[in-house]
Amino acid sequence: MPRSLSGRSFLKLLDFSTEEIQYLLELAKDFKRMKRAGTPHKYLAGKNIVLLFEKTSTRTRCSFEVAGNDLGMGVTYLDPGSSQMGKKESLEDTAKVLGRMFDGIEYRGFDQQIVEDLAKHAGVPVWNGLTTDFHPTQMLADVLTIEEHFGHYKGLTMVFMGDARNNVANSLMVVSAKLGINFVACGPKDNMPEKKLVDTCKKIAKENGCTITLTEDVKKGTKNADVIYTDIWVSMGEPDEIWEQRIKLLSPYQVNDAVMKNANPGAIFLHCLPSFHDLETTIGKDIHKKFGLPEMEVTDKVFRSPQSKVFDEAENRMHTIKAVMYATLK
Ligand code: CP
Ligand code: NVA
Repeated sequence: MPRSLSGRSFLKLLDFSTEEIQYLLELAKDFKRMKRAGTPHKYLAGKNIVLLFEKTSTRTRCSFEVAGNDLGMGVTYLDPGSSQMGKKESLEDTAKVLGRMFDGIEYRGFDQQIVEDLAKHAGVPVWNGLTTDFHPTQMLADVLTIEEHFGHYKGLTMVFMGDARNNVANSLMVVSAKLGINFVACGPKDNMPEKKLVDTCKKIAKENGCTITLTEDVKKGTKNADVIYTDIWVSMGEPDEIWEQRIKLLSPYQVNDAVMKNANPGAIFLHCLPSFHDLETTIGKDIHKKFGLPEMEVTDKVFRSPQSKVFDEAENRMHTIKAVMYATLK
């Protein structure tokens, strides 16, 4: 049993020990069972939280809102256009004001330093709902989904395909190192995670009996994979002009039938979502018109296949975020 997480912020997984991450996963399983059984769990009634979003969201926002309501808390949402933060009021002042009114603050936005500074000044737990560098709540849902499918996660091999230096890939590398999952970043050399983070993760991985591998070779990279993971090729906050270059660079890393066949029999497919796997989005249509691609980081066929566990993964965002809020606010 790890030391209490009460009063802690959840900013990046590097700040948490293996035991603490395992504890959050166990807690999430308990909450999922309660939710399924219809057992009320308003353990944090009387508390209030605020959700500060400088980028758009479906899953993360809804997870925090539903989880907050299930725990009996009041939930306030501030969208990218409706707070003074950064425009008329400094980050430090905003953090101090919100910390006086709320028991916890969720932040989604840009630099990791912003969420770190919010936590420094708020005086209440701050949760990272995605920054340019990390997306730590996502990984709890990913590992829970892997565990639900395979019955365990230690010793499995997870391969991230594509833009291997984005927030999701960085966080997957960290969580894998912490939990003894072999991690492979499979992408072009210019899209690999930063050396400093790789070195840190390799050290942690060694302690936990797993490996971190970077490769440009799709065949080698996806062989022996139990989990094939990908994310969109251009992340929020990056300029639209970058699409052309990314399509050229990352098309060889698309998750398709050949990739899934090369992985272990029984391998699963995960994606944090949202995904460009068909032409049912305005961006998807636009890219199709400009570059002729009917699907991008994953084919529609793989996305809709029985190997794809993306909707279990999306549901698990809520149960795991509930665990993070409960553990840090109780
Ligand atoms: N996976 C994820 O964070 O989704 P949203 O951007 O919809 O929150
Ligand atoms: N890398 C993506 C993740 C979205 C959940 C982004 O930052 O836009």
